[in-house]
Amino acid sequence: MRSLRYRIPAVFLVGVLVASAVAAVLAVRLFQDYTRDRTLAELRRQAQGLAELYQEQAIRSVDEARRAPGFAAPILEQATGSRIYYAGVEIFPGEKSGLRQLPLSLLDQSQLESGQVQTFEFTPPDTDRTYFAAAYPITLNGDTFGALVVAKPRAELQERWVVLLKRMAIALLVGLGVAGGLVWYLSRRLTKPVLALSRAADEVAAGRYDAELPQARSKDEIGHLTERFAEMTGKLAESQRRERNFLMVVSHELRTPLTAIRGHVEALREGIAQDEETQEASLRVIGAETDRLTRLVGDVLDLARMEAHQFTLEEEEVELRRLLEQAYESFGEEARRRGIEYECSLGADPVLDTDGDRVLQIVSNLLDNAFAWTPDGGRIDLDLSASNGTISISVADSGPGIGPEERERIFRPFWSRAGEGTGLGLPIARQLAHALGGELMLESQLGKGSRFELRLPASPAGRR
Ligand SMILES: Nc1ncnc2c1ncn2[C@@H]1O[C@H](COP(=O)(O)OP(=O)(O)O)[C@@H](O)[C@H]1O
Ligand SMILES: [Mg+2]
Repeated sequence: MRSLRYRIPAVFLVGVLVASAVAAVLAVRLFQDYTRDRTLAELRRQAQGLAELYQEQAIRSVDEARRAPGFAAPILEQATGSRIYYAGVEIFPGEKSGLRQLPLSLLDQSQLESGQVQTFEFTPPDTDRTYFAAAYPITLNGDTFGALVVAKPRAELQERWVVLLKRMAIALLVGLGVAGGLVWYLSRRLTKPVLALSRAADEVAAGRYDAELPQARSKDEIGHLTERFAEMTGKLAESQRRERNFLMVVSHELRTPLTAIRGHVEALREGIAQDEETQEASLRVIGAETDRLTRLVGDVLDLARMEAHQFTLEEEEVELRRLLEQAYESFGEEARRRGIEYECSLGADPVLDTDGDRVLQIVSNLLDNAFAWTPDGGRIDLDLSASNGTISISVADSGPGIGPEERERIFRPFWSRAGEGTGLGLPIARQLAHALGGELMLESQLGKGSRFELRLPASPAGRR
């Protein structure tokens, strides 16, 4: 019963019921007033007609021994179900007029005197029902003798609106049935995808990110929610994959140098490496592997700190030209060895207030990748230019290029195609670029090469 599937129709039906009840009350009120007015008008007409009839008869009967029109009242009573009374001075003495008698005190004397018709309610002594009544004065030569009264039981009117109420109730029941069916159908349609989503959410909460997701069919809020939900599970799955990948990569990366170090340490300890040259080589390996480990641990920490926004930047005047020359030269030897056409074009000489070590780290990362992916005999260019307040440093290579579907992925941690790679280089570079107030962009054509571009604001104001 807590389900929306029941609550929506319930709320809807309660609404319909309340609205119908209000409408019914109003309708009955209106109907009551209307029938009352109509009945009174009818009574007035009847009273007037009869009074005129008796008046005429009274005038005529002055000569004809006062004979009352005894036929009129009973016939009318029978035909209309009304009661007909006479109140006042007996105009047809000694003879039965066939009229019921009513005390004159029930009527408003002054109104009668002025010849006006009047309506009122009363309860005749022989019943306990209330009657509506209309009284019309009977006058002879300007003198009022009394009044003719036509009365109708009020219950008769009540019966009429009871009939109306019954009909309305039937209409309401039919309407409720139809509306209920419709709203039930609609609420099912509405809640079905929500139910499917909540089941999928249960699965996801239990850690099964590959749970089957409902298709977003509609363009409404639920459709939107479904789409975002799918996107979210996609990202969760991706982040889980990355986390697993991270553990695998990190443990692998850590273990490889550790195994090497341990092997060499053992060899040294057990005296397997006798001559000085072998010992020297072992120590060199140990040193290099230790460096690698330090770098890896440093990278992982860097990235973690950057993602948590917990790291500090130095600020100093940096001559970019000198910095880039330094970066350029550190790969010169490798370029010569592998026959790579390696050029540096420094088209500007800007001085920036920035963290030189971080800029160098980014550029070295980019050059490192370029050298890793460019085949022997290829080409790599390092360029520096400045325009419109933006400093641009680009590293272009003639490597295999990066496909469109990989262009965002390679900036995520641990995404690596390189056998020895950690997949941390580019994400760190991008995070650093952002921290320095700049950005890291990529243009690439599969089969032709890639061009990474670091853009930094020339003014220190752009810095975060
Ligand atoms: N210059 C490039 N040419 C082609 N692919 C590249 C280039 N630079 C980066 N990549 C791709 O991006 C991935 C991520 O690079 P990076 O974050 O530096 O990690 P790693 O170098 O450890 O693999 C690489 O594994 C490679 O697939
Ligand atoms: Mg790299």
